[in-house]
Amino acid sequence: MVPSTALFAKIRRFLHRKAVLKEKKYRSQVSNVLIVGSGGAGLRAAIAAHEAGADVRILGKRIRNDAHTVLAAGGINAALANVDPEDTWEQHFVDTYEEGYHIADPRAVELLVQEAPDRVLEIDSWGAPFAKTKDGHLDQRYFGAHRYRRTCYAGDYTGRAVLNALTRKVLDLGIEIVDMQYVSKLLVDTTNGTPECFGALAFDINSGKRTAYLADSVVLAAGGHTRIWRISSSRRDENTGDAMRLALQAGCQLGDMELVQFHPTGMVAPEELAGTLVTEAVRGEGGHLLNSKGERYMYNYDPKRAELSTRDRVALANFTEIMEGRGTDRGGVLLDISHKSKEHILEKLPRMYRQFMESQMLDISKTPMEVAPTAHYSMGGVVVEPDSHATRVKGLFAAGECTTGVHGANRLGGNSLAEILVFGKRAGEHAALYSDNLELPKRSRNVIADASDELDRLTSKGEELARPMQRSVRNTMWKKCGVLRDESSLQEGISEIQQLKEASQNVDVRPSAEGYGDLALALDLLGSLDSAEATLRCAVERKESRGSHQRSDYPETSAEQRVNYVISFNDAGNQCVESHPVPPVPERLQDHFMEYSEPSVDGRLLE
Ligand code: FUM
Repeated sequence: MVPSTALFAKIRRFLHRKAVLKEKKYRSQVSNVLIVGSGGAGLRAAIAAHEAGADVRILGKRIRNDAHTVLAAGGINAALANVDPEDTWEQHFVDTYEEGYHIADPRAVELLVQEAPDRVLEIDSWGAPFAKTKDGHLDQRYFGAHRYRRTCYAGDYTGRAVLNALTRKVLDLGIEIVDMQYVSKLLVDTTNGTPECFGALAFDINSGKRTAYLADSVVLAAGGHTRIWRISSSRRDENTGDAMRLALQAGCQLGDMELVQFHPTGMVAPEELAGTLVTEAVRGEGGHLLNSKGERYMYNYDPKRAELSTRDRVALANFTEIMEGRGTDRGGVLLDISHKSKEHILEKLPRMYRQFMESQMLDISKTPMEVAPTAHYSMGGVVVEPDSHATRVKGLFAAGECTTGVHGANRLGGNSLAEILVFGKRAGEHAALYSDNLELPKRSRNVIADASDELDRLTSKGEELARPMQRSVRNTMWKKCGVLRDESSLQEGISEIQQLKEASQNVDVRPSAEGYGDLALALDLLGSLDSAEATLRCAVERKESRGSHQRSDYPETSAEQRVNYVISFNDAGNQCVESHPVPPVPERLQDHFMEYSEPSVDGRLLE
């Protein structure tokens, strides 16, 4: 049978499209708002943008419902006053700002504490299985340095509970989540002098297929950079600093990158799980910290609050006990909850019970856990305007751990889950508004082609392997920029990172039958190197000790250093640091500080 003219035309059209696609090497997808990151902040942003009328698409680098949010354990803060009726949002403000050592943005803190109660009640109404009091209200537990019990929780699976509820809501609303998409570049047009973001280029980690996700506005919610320390509470290949690299390259500023929270209690053994979180809820439920002599040493470091002191103080205390030879043989201290009944532990700390039973055959209702500090949370990150979470790049918003501003130099446990809900929602709403007001969507084929060419350049044979180089970055950051730093260790860190940066030009990337994991690793490495450099550069500038940033050569907090350190690229494309004044506390909030004193924990720790 002779093919018809129509069929020939169809084949011609198909071949032509294939040729175009081959040349372009990518397909395009369009939405009003694009969300980069499928963790809690990204999902909450997507829901808000959708509810504001935008067409929304979410990109995740892992499979859905497995973002880092699932690891958040002990709880989410909201001044609901369900258990301690004296609690107020004003007190939550004071606790957060004071314990962040006065360098948070007061407006961001105000929004966090005012809006957290509504966000928590909302997520409860979306089905998160929070623990309830006998009269049916959300139960609240103690977390370190909070004056009152304000941490709502779902056992020690709070992050999992929040993420499940958000994912269900997103799917119910029909919002598309595209899994396994590695975003290599935010698409930014600069032709009229002001950078404007119009989407992102991503590739599928399994198939390598590239897609230019075009959008009127973008919300970056792709996590922090704490995996670049050797001991970290993040899993492999998450929180590698890729969000910070994307932002910096797009033209954003990064603030206070040196402020990285070391959680006092990560697992010590087995080696492959070293750093895995042992939730603060263990101490909130009455756990004691002991050194190898059996001393409850926290009273020497913070006599009033002991184990419920701030994270920076407890982390430094644990570190000091270990470094001064009062630790265990494997380099830890002991965390003991065995004075509580097994029933209580199984009800309040089920994950911890299972985690130690499965990994060490250790029954925490009978035997203390061995713990040590672990890199846990990035308090520095992309600089955003507090109300809208807009960055300085038009059309680009950011939310969650990749941002800075709300935690200052020490984050209170339980404030990060509150943050992702409060500011995820705000970023999504403002991204939708931006899209609504946009007269003419920006698109630039050259920008997309350049981003695609960069992936071509990276996909080449080389002498170096990304995985071992990543390990070198992590060793450098742990040794030179860990719990305690000084000028010479930081300078050594900078030069080691510079050497690794040079070597990273020669990384071997070959797609295989297993997919494009090599390419993702190479990009993770570049993100780690950029965020490591930014961290070290800010750490050198901050010549004082403040919260999580402890310098043995500058042990005091300095009034002159009460600033934010901000990194951006100079014209030559190199990172440079400048200091910015901390925004003042507005008069309307100042009265609340009049009576501040560190909360005492009398009666809370002696059970
Ligand atoms: O210890 C924890 O459960 C961690 C909570 C948090 O980082 O907010």
